[in-house]
Amino acid sequence: MNPNDIIAAKNSGKSIPTQDLHSFISGYVEDRIDDTTMTGLLKAIFDHGMTHDEIYTLVDIMIHSGKQMHFEHLDEYVCDKHSIGGVGDKTSLIIAPLLATAGLYLPMIAGRSLGHTGGTLDKLETIPGFRADIPIVEFQKLVKNNHCGILAQTSEICPADGKIYALRDVTGTIASVPLIVGSIMSKKIAEGIQGLVLDIKVGNGAFMPTLEKATELAEMLKEVGEHFGVKTDLVYSNMDQPLGRFSGMGCEVQEAIDCLHSEGPEDTTAVCFKLASKLMIQSGKAKDEAESNSILNTLIENGSAYEKFEMMIAAQGGDLNACDFSPAYTLEIIAEKSGIIQSMDTTQIGWGLVDMGCGRKQKDDILDPSAGLECHHKIGDDVKKGDVLFTCFCHDEEKLKMGVEKITNSVIIGYEEVEFSLFYN
Ligand code: URA
Repeated sequence: MNPNDIIAAKNSGKSIPTQDLHSFISGYVEDRIDDTTMTGLLKAIFDHGMTHDEIYTLVDIMIHSGKQMHFEHLDEYVCDKHSIGGVGDKTSLIIAPLLATAGLYLPMIAGRSLGHTGGTLDKLETIPGFRADIPIVEFQKLVKNNHCGILAQTSEICPADGKIYALRDVTGTIASVPLIVGSIMSKKIAEGIQGLVLDIKVGNGAFMPTLEKATELAEMLKEVGEHFGVKTDLVYSNMDQPLGRFSGMGCEVQEAIDCLHSEGPEDTTAVCFKLASKLMIQSGKAKDEAESNSILNTLIENGSAYEKFEMMIAAQGGDLNACDFSPAYTLEIIAEKSGIIQSMDTTQIGWGLVDMGCGRKQKDDILDPSAGLECHHKIGDDVKKGDVLFTCFCHDEEKLKMGVEKITNSVIIGYEEVEFSLFYN
């Protein structure tokens, strides 16, 4: 079938034959199919979904659009964690060095900002000199030596995902189960890992706002993981408010450092420990969550997890001493009445952050390392009229005003007592 017939077939609810899906995606990777035509296919998949077999095929095609890493020669468990979107999620920066210190190997492939959510790579690249675009031969050596590393999706690894991810970001085709599964699982399987934990974000800042949709996504991710021989565990975490105290660019790197010094916010630390415990148990390093927490706490308290973080950053060219995230402009958002914080519109906060320079509206937008916000209060907190809810900052006064305008109405204050649970399971 030609590309337009393939799109028409999907739009009429039919499955795409393996060969046709393969030629469409390889045609796009090799620039024989343009962005507009690919957008047609993405929208058709977004609207009509894919069967399980189509999803397996999609993952397989995306894996084989590039090379795969191999770690069979290593003596310890090789694994990764992946969080599905989110605002303020800096857990990869903490979990990679923490688990590496515990002896596990983590060859992480991280992504850039997607829609209203932040990207681990964008945050890491606020560190002067940090390189995530590393040839995989070099990256595999780095993982062997340091037990961890964070790689960008490069032209060598899942190039099909690289192109499609950037296009989905600007065409409103992000929140689709088959497309998210294809994107995440192709990269994870290409890493050559044995085990994986997935942080399934649920709530108004997640790609999947309801537990029902999030469960559908999670079960498909797990099914694909197991199909390709990767032991996959799931954690459902609440994204009805930003994670941690800071959301944005360099300020999230700083929060990750704080967590590695035992000085991070409780919620960020709790999500990291919960996710890390799944891999500690999978690998046999801990028998349960309590034992995992005790081991990981020791590794933080004795300084070795932070040392590993420094080593990981330096091995990829980053200079932590050269970091300067001080913003040129700052604005506060104030509570307009007294009461209890009932809810936050986390997607709206994410879009405000994008306006301020933490995400892309066009494929080639340049991000602002100093941009972000500090969240002074969370759901369930008592606030008084005039209290500061957020401090927002970045390098461009106009962008800051635009972001602040979006974030200003994102918090609802009322009078009901509200409980916020960080996890759904
Ligand atoms: N993370 C990814 O890598 N891909 C998606 O589609 C969503 C989150």
